[in-house]
Amino acid sequence: MIRRSVVRGTGHYLPERIVENAFFEQQLETSDEWIRARTGIERRHFAAEGQTTSDLGIEAAKAALANAGLSADDIDAIVVATSTPDLTFPSVATMIQGGLGMSRGFAFDVQAVCAGFVFALSTADAMIRAGQADRILVIGAEAFSRILDFTDRSTCVLFGDGAGAVILEVQEGEGTNQDRGILALDLNSDGRYRDLLYVDGGVATTGTAGHLRMQGNLVFRHAVEKLAATAHRALDKAGIPAESVDWLVPHQANIRIIEATAKRMELPIEKVVLTVANHGNTSAASIPLAMSVANSEGRFKTGDVLVAEAIGGGLAWGSVVLRW
Ligand code: COA
Repeated sequence: MIRRSVVRGTGHYLPERIVENAFFEQQLETSDEWIRARTGIERRHFAAEGQTTSDLGIEAAKAALANAGLSADDIDAIVVATSTPDLTFPSVATMIQGGLGMSRGFAFDVQAVCAGFVFALSTADAMIRAGQADRILVIGAEAFSRILDFTDRSTCVLFGDGAGAVILEVQEGEGTNQDRGILALDLNSDGRYRDLLYVDGGVATTGTAGHLRMQGNLVFRHAVEKLAATAHRALDKAGIPAESVDWLVPHQANIRIIEATAKRMELPIEKVVLTVANHGNTSAASIPLAMSVANSEGRFKTGDVLVAEAIGGGLAWGSVVLRW
């Protein structure tokens, strides 16, 4: 028997303020039509003034605990993926821990930008399998609206704010790919591409938070090439053929990237969870948000094979295969 990390519950939170594409037409040379056609995005949520990443994460965490029928005392650790922390330190994870009234266990952040949630899941899975924790709250939470340059039409229309949470719980498995839980992961990064997508400020440079900068068409090309490849590698490691995949839960950056990845994986679009139209790109929050939305609609059945994949600044990219 081996230790497996099984999804026990999911939750999400989106800030109240919904910003339609039309909002950008008022201040930039852009159109709802262009944004929909090139990205699939129709609207996104923006955090209210004073509302922080940890505020969003606390709400998502509470929703996941309720979904799992657990309380904060049942959790051993919190791992948060974010690139938009409330403060330089302490971690958003400890702020969420405090917000949940949880004083035991441990909490920390990981940062792999839009791929952050896959890296956080991998970290949590490794700790569960090593016996360091039995239940881990894995959260993706972002307030990307705070680092957008609202004069740059090629980036500011793409991103949104939100948080998603997944509770992983240890369960004994046979060690075969019929087990429930995380079956395989594939992580990658290549720092040669760090200038394709970055924030032009930071603690040790400008001393400011900075703004997001991106060479969108180059990132697009890397995404199309690398996402299907990482998903195939993770499926190979799990010994599961692509045709056995029940659900693709992709990072929600651009509908054209998602469609191209699904096509390369020979998956019909009906098997793809899509939230990009309503959420935009919420970076590390996008996969757990999509997973929680689909789960709340009862779309995943016990035993289903899910593949999640993401790419972002670094470049960093990866995928996870899990059985629901
Ligand atoms: N409204 C209108 N026109 C816009 C625009 C907007 N919001 N944003 C860019 N354009 C213009 C560009 O200025 C350019 O004009 P030009 O030809 O006069 O220079 C034209 O549209 C084409 O730009 P290009 O960047 O080649 O378009 P594209 O088809 O690649 O689409 C993105 C741009 C950003 C939508 C696309 O590249 C993309 O989605 N990239 C991946 C981004 C991503 O997902 N990043 C996050 C990964 S985590």
